[in-house]
Amino acid sequence: MTVKKAVIPAAGYGTRFLPATKAQPKEMLPIIDTPTIQYVVQEAVDAGIEDILIISGKGKRAIEDHFDRNHELESRLEESEKEQLYNEMRHIADMANIHFIRQKEINGLGDAIYYARYHTGDEPFAVLLGDTVIDSVIPVTQQLIDAFEQYNASVLAVEKVPKEKVDRYGIVGGKQLSDKIMEVTEFVEKPDPATAPSNLAIAGRYILTSEIYRALEQTKKGKNNEVQLTDAIQLLSKREKVIADTIEGKRYDIGNKLDFLKTTVEFALRRKEFAKDFAAFLKETVKGL
Ligand code: UTP
Repeated sequence: MTVKKAVIPAAGYGTRFLPATKAQPKEMLPIIDTPTIQYVVQEAVDAGIEDILIISGKGKRAIEDHFDRNHELESRLEESEKEQLYNEMRHIADMANIHFIRQKEINGLGDAIYYARYHTGDEPFAVLLGDTVIDSVIPVTQQLIDAFEQYNASVLAVEKVPKEKVDRYGIVGGKQLSDKIMEVTEFVEKPDPATAPSNLAIAGRYILTSEIYRALEQTKKGKNNEVQLTDAIQLLSKREKVIADTIEGKRYDIGNKLDFLKTTVEFALRRKEFAKDFAAFLKETVKGL
């Protein structure tokens, strides 16, 4: 079976980014001028996925509006002959078939994914965290789909992190099947660097078979009293093969303030229209430190 659908969970409170996220979704925080979740949708589309389910929730209406048409704005742009902007706005509404479902209580990432069960049915599906952008040549979701097709198993994107920093991440362990593919048998949340099974951290992109729903039904609330997707995947790995794919790409977790700042700087330096001025400004600023 090929992967035709993607699920983007975007219902979380975003407590690490308060107060900005008190009344607006963190997934709408812009990297320069583009909401984070638009990069995420673009990645799915670039991997050939046209059907996307966004898990939304209270205070997340701006996400729905962003991917909808805005006729008044479009007419205004058309009248003032801002053709490029007009086309850009139309493109956002036409990127994919985007569906929404609301997570009624914020009970964790695992609970959010469970809301997708009627939408994805028996099909395998991609999961892309709505607050994580991954910059890569080949879209990471495409890399995972390729691995899924080769190994016929659920796939977790993982990235190598410095050994001394493993205690900040969800780390996997298991048997290496090739340079970049590991059959996963162990999942440890924030392990001690001395006993960590590897330095491969779960990176916010997954391909899951529909068996994940059975596993989620049997997963009790875990850390933070929330249903953790990692716990369900661990259960899944006892029933069928689960692999980890060391992705080629750089992950940006905009859900925490420091990473958000770093992301903004790196992306700004790549933007032709202000790369030069911004670099000069940064050099000048750093000089004074
Ligand atoms: P995070 O754990 O990073 O999001 O989940 P959070 O809970 O909003 O963050 P903090 O810790 O309070 O700052 C990763 C993605 O999963 C979604 C989030 O919206 C985010 O895009 N999520 C998380 C849900 O959709 N539902 C949940 O119950 C939890």
